Amino acid sequence: MTTFSERVERISISGIREVFEAAGDDAINLGLGQPDFPTPAHARRAAVDAIESGKADAYTENKGTLGLREAIAEKHRADQGVDLDPGNVIATAGGSEALHVAMEAHVDAGDEVLIPDPGFVSYDALTKLAGGEPVPVPLRDDLTIDPAAIENAITDDTAAFVVNSPGNPTGAVSSEADVREFARIADEHDVLCISDEVYEYTVFDGDHRSPIEFAETDNVVVVNSASKLFSMTGWRLGWVYGSAERVERMLRVHQYAQACASAPAQYAAEAALRGDRGVVDEMTASFERRRDIVLEGFAEIGLDCPTPQGAFYAMPRVPDGFVDECIDRGVVVVPGEAFGENGAGHARVSYATDEAQLREALDVMAEAFEAAR
Ligand SMILES: Cc1ncc(COP(=O)(O)O)c(C=O)c1O
Repeated sequence: MTTFSERVERISISGIREVFEAAGDDAINLGLGQPDFPTPAHARRAAVDAIESGKADAYTENKGTLGLREAIAEKHRADQGVDLDPGNVIATAGGSEALHVAMEAHVDAGDEVLIPDPGFVSYDALTKLAGGEPVPVPLRDDLTIDPAAIENAITDDTAAFVVNSPGNPTGAVSSEADVREFARIADEHDVLCISDEVYEYTVFDGDHRSPIEFAETDNVVVVNSASKLFSMTGWRLGWVYGSAERVERMLRVHQYAQACASAPAQYAAEAALRGDRGVVDEMTASFERRRDIVLEGFAEIGLDCPTPQGAFYAMPRVPDGFVDECIDRGVVVVPGEAFGENGAGHARVSYATDEAQLREALDVMAEAFEAAR
């Protein structure tokens, strides 16, 4: 009988799904990882036009349309000041596929990949699918990624380390000094830094910086996506960029696994990148207001929480049983251990939910905290 690959047997369906399934239909869901805004009208329009004119009927270039890749290159020139050749960009099926091709192209069987713990669930799973060994690296107490901890964890077997700012599940934003350190570590130790920047535009305090701005070698690849930048999670359009050599290897994976990203989504993302960014500012301002509501609520409850500076997640320290008490009362939050062992004792609260529901959920969390304490 055909059995299953050892690689696939090492991973399982994300723990987040189980939490959703445990909650009733009328629960307030603070477990979701997507902005609660519509996709910008000009992006939708571009996809409709592309479909109606027949432009979206055929495969595009494997890397994606030149128009989209030029828009991506201009974005990174404007935002990071990097001199990005559109030839060194691959449009992918979301940031998820971008992470996948980066891992497949760089990780050999038995290689170690350093991942933040707690960190986004895909880093562990994609490392295992590539045959590698994830090595969880603890965060600082303020939930930022610690360059010193990464440097200490590097061995002769390290193929790559993953950094993610603004961070999921933490909302933490790395300082410029830390980001410079990520670049230095990639250069000096000659290991690849995979920088996941999908929440780049959702920063409240300070600025988003990328290690690719500071690296002197080509040891950084950047993953980004229209999903969170423009509230386009359903469109499945992300991208990865790096040196020509790295992109050529990642393209080999992308070409056989995907052929090309969905054409209508490519036209929509190009329009989002080139169009009015008012909606991005509006989203960021709205998430910042909600961040403040959540932090105030936590303070009243007595929940200790490092101040998230970006994305739309907060990660308070919670007593044992808190998550179950919340779910029993109809509020879904995700247990921190779904994101790695060091997430234990925390919960991830997504505040991409309207303010009225957030306030209601905070009242419920106060009761859950009393019950669990
Ligand atoms: C940190 C991080 N990276 C990547 C992704 C993948 O996003 P997508 O595939 O929708 O672009 C997510 C989605 O939640 C995320 O939180």
